[in-house]
Amino acid sequence: MDDQRRLHFRFATRAVHAGERPNPRDFIPTATPIYPTSTFLYQNIEQMDAALGGAVGVFVYGRYGNPTTEALETAVASLEEQEAALAFASGMAALHATILSCVEAGDRIVASRDLYGQTITLLRTIFGSLGVRVEFVDILDLAQVEAALRRGGVRLLLCETISNPLLRVTDLPSLAEIAHRYGARLAVDNTFATPYLVRPGTLGADYVIHSATKYLSGHGDVTAGIVATTADRRWELNEINKTIGSILGPFEAFLVLRGLKTLPLRMHRQCENASRIACWLAEHPLIERVHYPGLPTHPSHETAARLLPPGLYGAIVSFEIRHGTRERVTAFLERLRLILPATTLGDVYSEILYPVMASHRGLSPEERQAMGISDGLVRLSVGIEDPEDIIADLEQALASLA
Ligand SMILES: Cc1ncc(COP(=O)(O)O)c(C=O)c1O
Repeated sequence: MDDQRRLHFRFATRAVHAGERPNPRDFIPTATPIYPTSTFLYQNIEQMDAALGGAVGVFVYGRYGNPTTEALETAVASLEEQEAALAFASGMAALHATILSCVEAGDRIVASRDLYGQTITLLRTIFGSLGVRVEFVDILDLAQVEAALRRGGVRLLLCETISNPLLRVTDLPSLAEIAHRYGARLAVDNTFATPYLVRPGTLGADYVIHSATKYLSGHGDVTAGIVATTADRRWELNEINKTIGSILGPFEAFLVLRGLKTLPLRMHRQCENASRIACWLAEHPLIERVHYPGLPTHPSHETAARLLPPGLYGAIVSFEIRHGTRERVTAFLERLRLILPATTLGDVYSEILYPVMASHRGLSPEERQAMGISDGLVRLSVGIEDPEDIIADLEQALASLA
């Protein structure tokens, strides 16, 4: 419908149609526009027929794909050096679809016991009730991982590149080799590392999963998830998501795409800041223990040095406050003036989280103890601020505990 024809319509009709669907013009926007449309129109009905019949590269319906979201998927696939990627409404939705695409009732999953708390809950509750059996293992103990796979029926091995909150770094090439030897796929949650530090798909992982809520977007203003994988597996995931509908909206996709542009700059700065802060904390008399893969004392230091770029060990530092009771940790958190007590990570702001109260709240004290998560442990996501200001904030808050 051209604008001349629209002029002849009555007021209510023009209110709906005027200005919409302009003819394509001869320019290319620098940034991918946000396409807030739930359906798409075609030049003619023949094209529409082809689109509805599944023609490649054609958009049909918002739940099946969107140009802004597709731009984000192309970008993440490129950064992860994978053929394709599929965006989801959240990191949990991305994990859910990935696991669903690998297992059915009676199958087994071997999973790291260091996973994000909600991922453990997902495996136990949603997949447990579907008849999928899950065995949790110490992912750094390759003999234990292999023994669990050898028992048979395992379709999926699931781990995080850098675990939450103890920052244990997994030996991805070895895990991929073991998983494939026993006919299982390897899915890696790469949220903490980001493709700037490591690209699990190039080390043998079959799925690379992100909570894009974190570093990929980086500004604490969006909830999103994404999986990078082969084109075939992306198609399988999309078939699932067309039915489940955990799609990422175009506004959110735009925000993540925008965040990605500064990922290397942010990550570099955040890793440098984290390293500096970890060294400072390690010398502090009120700190019992620092968990940071860049420190030679960390159990994953060697693996981290092998898999991560020189000098960049991630931007999270976990540490245990001496005589760390819940009351003392609470007092410390309340004294912070710059670092935000927020249940997230990976933003430009420094953020601190108390796992006992947040990410691992759903687990029993015994389960937390078995995972090495003490009552004095806090997790600091280091931002891009001046490191001197972050250290000064930690120092004054710790001083109140002396
Ligand atoms: C490692 C990891 N994976 C997955 C998730 C879930 O992501 P989302 O909150 O985007 O659903 C989180 C959330 O904190 C996480 O830390």
